[in-house]
Formats: sequence, C-alpha cells, structure tokens
Amino acid sequence: MRYIIEIEKLDHQGRGIGKIDGKIVFVPNTYIGEKVEIEVIKDTTKFMEGKVVKFLKKSSDRVKFSCPYYNECGGCNIAHIKYEKQLQFKEDLVKNIFKKYVNIDINPKISKSDEELHYRNKVVFHVKKDKIGFYQEETNTLVPIDKCLLLDELLNKTLWALSMNIESADLKSMTLKSNGESTLAKFVGNTKLDNDETIFWGNKSALDKKATDELKEDAIVFKLGRYNYAVNADAFFQVNTKQAVKIYDKVRKHIQECSGDKILDLYCGIGSISIYISDLCKEVVGIEINKSAIKCANYNKKLNNIKNVKFIAGDVSVAINNKMKADIIIVDPPRGGLDNKTISTIKEIKPNTIIYVSCNPLTLARDINKLCDEYELDNIELFDMFPQTYHCEVVTILERK
Ligand SMILES: C[S@@+](CC[C@H](N)C(=O)[O-])C[C@H]1O[C@@H](n2cnc3c(N)ncnc32)[C@H](O)[C@@H]1O
Repeated sequence: MRYIIEIEKLDHQGRGIGKIDGKIVFVPNTYIGEKVEIEVIKDTTKFMEGKVVKFLKKSSDRVKFSCPYYNECGGCNIAHIKYEKQLQFKEDLVKNIFKKYVNIDINPKISKSDEELHYRNKVVFHVKKDKIGFYQEETNTLVPIDKCLLLDELLNKTLWALSMNIESADLKSMTLKSNGESTLAKFVGNTKLDNDETIFWGNKSALDKKATDELKEDAIVFKLGRYNYAVNADAFFQVNTKQAVKIYDKVRKHIQECSGDKILDLYCGIGSISIYISDLCKEVVGIEINKSAIKCANYNKKLNNIKNVKFIAGDVSVAINNKMKADIIIVDPPRGGLDNKTISTIKEIKPNTIIYVSCNPLTLARDINKLCDEYELDNIELFDMFPQTYHCEVVTILERK
C-alpha cells in the first residue's frame, strides 16, 4: 500500500516518524518537515514501517551523502542530514531520554567530531565467497562494498588489497584495525578447523614490532595524548581516536576537580583510561573481562612506565566487592550498561564520585535512575564519536548526596 505522509520527528535511531490514520510509521532516510510518498513494508498492530517511493517536499537541512551503499548497508543512518542538525538530533535525543526516564531537565552540549568522514580506526567485514561487505541491518544479507566513507584511508586501501586475494580463502569475517600507518587484520574462517589468523598491512612501526614481540601476538600501537597503547586483534579500543582523546581529557578534568586517592576503572579494556589518569591519584585498579585485553593493559602499563595501576581480569559484577575502597569509580560498560549487582556493590563501596562513560543513553538513563537515591547528576556532556550514525557517547558525573 502507498501513502503520503509528513515527517513530524525522528526516533532514537534517526528514522523519520509520521502517522497513517493515527498509527505511527517509521521511515528511514527522511527528516522533520519532509513530505513523502511511502510504501508500507511492515504493518503490526502498534506501528508500521515504510520506504520512501517519492519525495514531495525535501528539507533544506538535507544534504547529499555520496555513498552508493547508504540505503542498503545500515551502518550510517543520519548521513542525509546536515552535520549541525545531526549534532542537534543527538542533544535532543539525550535531553528527551533523561526527561522521560530520569524525569530531569538537562540541556546537554555535544562536542563535535573533527572529522565527519574517515574517522573510524576499526571495521568488521563479513565475507561470502569472493564478496566482502557489511550485513544489511538485522539480516544476514551481505551488501558487498569496495570502500566505506567512515573508514580511515588505510583501512580502505587494505580492503582494496585484500579483496584481490579473497577468492582462495574460505573466510567468514575479517576485522581490521588501523593506526594510520599500519593495519592489523584478523581473519576468521568458515569452519572451526580453520585457524584464525592475523596479519599486518602497511609500515609496522618500531612500537608495533616491540609490542608484537613482547605480547607474542600481533598488536598495533595507538597514541592517545602522551600515552601509547598496544591493542591486539581481540581487544576493544575506541574507534574514533581523536574523539577518544577529548573524552579522556574530560575524565581527567573531572578527576582534577573532585580529586581522590583511589580510583576504580570498571570495564577498563586495554587500560586506556586507567593509564591516562594515573598521574592524578595514588592508585588505580582496572577490571576487565577480556583476558586478551588485560594482557595488553599490563603491557601498556610497562610501555608507559606506570607504577600505580593494577589490572584484574574478571567479570566486574563478580570481581568487585564492598571491601574495596575507592574515592572515584569510573564505569565505561558495553551498550547493555550496568547489571543490578554491580550497581548495588558500587553503592556499598560509596565512592564520592562516579564517572559514567556511556555509548548508550538509554541504558545510561536506566542506570542513573537506579543510582539516583544516593547520587545526583552533576554534569553531562556528549561527544560525537560516530558522525553519520545515530550513536552518541555520553560522559556523566554523579556526586554522592
Ligand atoms: C566500552 S568498552 C570500554 C573500554 C575502555 N574503558 C576504553 O575506553 O577503551 C567496554 C569494555 O568492557 C568489557 N566488558 C564487557 N562486559 C564486561 C564485564 N561483565 N566485566 C568486565 N568487563 C566487561 C569489554 O570487553 C570492553 O573492553
């Protein structure tokens, strides 16, 4: 069925929202004020999903995004909107989430990304026979691509070089990480019999070589501020290097303001934040579930000559206990946020300050709701780590009441 609708607002994922006979319809690749003819592609009792057939009125805030895969691959969602309107979308999104779920009025400001394109230092490609690409959102349908506008140039060059040789390998996926000089590629085979393999592309620096020798596995070294960080194929590292520096600087600034001798850095990855703030206190303890990341974290401590940081490998909810002492607790969990056990143990530890770094405002708001009987929101700032997508990084400071 085809309908003509007007887009009234955007949902959390940047899809346009209109109405057909009072029922909500979500339409990707549209913007507020646009009039579109749509085809309904999903119709449930509560909502519909539509696809634009024809634009009858286009917004002046619409821009042309020159990626041929934009409507297929699902990686970018708001690239058709002017960058300043993307930033406003993210500020409004977090403001509305906090009003709805925490019942507080905030006016968060977002720090824009220096690069609107080519900012990603990491990518995961799926492979099917001789085709490399991304899965269409929520499907296993491969959209083959030959370059991605979000990737740093070396990743695109590596993709091009690998695609020449892909036919003979029986691959399922490959993960590429680039520090601008060299790329670390991890290949995962289709069968369990295939051994996962990592290789280097480009100019391996002296630091990359040293890290690879000492860790006894391929690792690539990134520089953030005055610190160097070795990252192996399996460990997490922030995908937008320049924005990560801004976030870590913000965390440093807050620690300088609130001061504390003992800091717990939960979900610490390769020790990036722990090391970045180590000169501001007597002791930092980082906890991380991924043993491979902890191996890098311990190496990074040595690499940066840091003496007052200790790393624990384990699930945060099991590894922390109420006997631990901390003036400040930093949490930077995955999208799912904090579990209830972790929240209650944090309350028992009673830090003066909690610094919550979040990549998902919805779970952040949910968790703040659970903490707000004992902590109040003192500061909130957004960082655009992921231009062209609806994703948004949030740093909040919670002070003990
Ligand atoms: C968003 S990353 C943050 C890493 C680090 N703070 C940084 O800035 O690079 C989240 C980290 O939490 C780790 N993680 C996920 N679940 C965990 C758990 N239950 N316990 C401990 N660490 C966990 C992941 O492996 C990942 O390294």
